[in-house]
Order: sequence, then C-alpha cells, then structure tokens
Amino acid sequence: MLYIGLIGFPVKHSVSPAMHNAALKDAGIEGIYLAFEVKPDELRNAVFGAKALGFKGLNVTIPFKESVVEFVELKGEAAKIRTVNTIDLVEMIGYNTDVYGVKAALAGNDLEGKTALVVGAGGAGKAAALALLEMGSTVILANRTESKGREAVEMLRKYGECIFWPLNRVEELKGKIDVLVNATPLGMSGFKAELPVPPSLLDGVELVFDTVYNPMNTPLILEAKRRGCRVVYGIEMLVHQGAKAFEIWTGVKPDVEIMREAALKALRG
Ligand code: ATR
Repeated sequence: MLYIGLIGFPVKHSVSPAMHNAALKDAGIEGIYLAFEVKPDELRNAVFGAKALGFKGLNVTIPFKESVVEFVELKGEAAKIRTVNTIDLVEMIGYNTDVYGVKAALAGNDLEGKTALVVGAGGAGKAAALALLEMGSTVILANRTESKGREAVEMLRKYGECIFWPLNRVEELKGKIDVLVNATPLGMSGFKAELPVPPSLLDGVELVFDTVYNPMNTPLILEAKRRGCRVVYGIEMLVHQGAKAFEIWTGVKPDVEIMREAALKALRG
C-alpha cells in the first residue's frame, strides 16, 4: 500500500487528493493520497512522523515550501530556488515540480527574448520566474515586500536576466511587458477579488498566466480576455506539477487528462 500525503495550512479546499487518487486508480496502483493540516510549529514532527509511518512521499504547500528545505536534500530546481513542493520520504529528497508545472503550462508559447512581469516572490513566484528564465525570457519580479522580492532576485539572477521592481510602481512598465504572471493569492476564492496590477497594464500584453486556479476565471483572467490577451489557467500548472510529483513517487507517468478531469470535478464541488 502506497501512502502519500499533502501537508499545508490550510489544505481543506485542495483538489490534489482528488487528482492523485484518480491517477493512482487509473494506473492500477494500490495507494492513497491524503491531505493533512499541519500547524507551523509541528512541521518537523509531521515530516518525520509521516516517514516513520511508512509514507512514500509528501506534497508541501503554503506555508511550508520554504521552511521544509532544512529537512531534505535539495535536488534540481528545488536547490536553485530553495523551495520544495514534493518530498521523497524514503530518500529524504526535496524536489520542486512547480517549475516543471509552469513550463508545461506555458509550453507552445515562444518565450525566448520576451519580457515577463511576475508578481509575487513566494514559492509560486520563484518557480514561475525560474521557469520563464529557463525558457529564455527576461523576468521583472514585483513584490509587495521589497526585501523578499530582492532576496528572490538574488537567487534567480544566476539563471538569467532578472530584476526587482516595486509593486507600487508597476504602472511605469506599461507597454514594456509581453507576459504577465500572477503568483499572489489575489483573485483566489476566499481572498480579495482584486487584480494584482492596474488593469491598464494588460494592454499590449500577449500572454497572461494566473497561478490561481480556484476560480478558473479569476478577475485577472477575465480582464485579460476582455483586453485581447492570450490566457493560461492555473489548473494547467496544478495538473502538471502533480503529474511530475506522481512520477517521482511511483515511477509511473500518469494520465494527465485523468488528473485534469478529477481536478476540475473537485473544483466544481
Ligand atoms: P506561494 O507559495 O503560493 O507563492 P507565499 O509563499 O505565501 O505563497 O507567497 C505569496 C506571495 O503573494 C508573496 O509574494 C506575497 O507578498 P509578500 O512577500 O509581500 O507577503 C504576495 N501577496 C500576498 N497577499 C498579497 C496582497 N494582498 N497584495 C500583493 N501581494 C500579496
């Protein structure tokens, strides 16, 4: 029996259990994926407790993606941005499949030489920025808290052209952006139904990607469509990061369609 868990706070509304359990069933693997709400000061106990109980792996979400790095050996993208969303508990290795998720979500768009504005410098923002840098874009990272934004840029600069920009001055970037990514919770159900940037900044932007997937049509996605931008939904990143994590734990490439369908069904409630 394969046990996999998700740790975060909150995790009640996560669609990952539905997505992974559907993939396990489809692949004929006897296993279960469960979500656990963990208090911040219990993170260490949760990680080592799950290992002791024989769990194969964990997904890690808000607010633990950065704090969990001290318990695992970082591999690949996780080492580059010191952010982990997937753990192999047998080997105690931390991976970041969000970067892969963003690349897969944006596949088919030529991002070479483009200028991308990424809003948010948390786990999602760093993953999106690294993916875009590795796809050949220049990244402007804007964040509400300047120190956190600058710290992220220091890390990301090793992988391409990346600069920090204060969030309260993004209006000055009007006409200079090809790609816009929201990596803040703004627009998420239960959060403020606000855009992360002034709407007029969207004029002339080719591609808008919102990492928020609930609702699918966030205020940003709706405004982007209205202004004629191409859009990529957050669900694409969710499904592809999940597929890569599934492969890490099971060695099996899951059916992404099955995962997408299960995630969408869970989102609809
Ligand atoms: P995740 O792992 O999803 O990226 P996170 O690490 O909590 O989550 O990061 C959330 C990001 O959204 C941060 O960049 C945060 O900005 P701060 O660094 O200033 O906290 C940003 N964010 C959250 N609420 C915001 C708001 N109301 N306006 C602007 N940015 C916000």
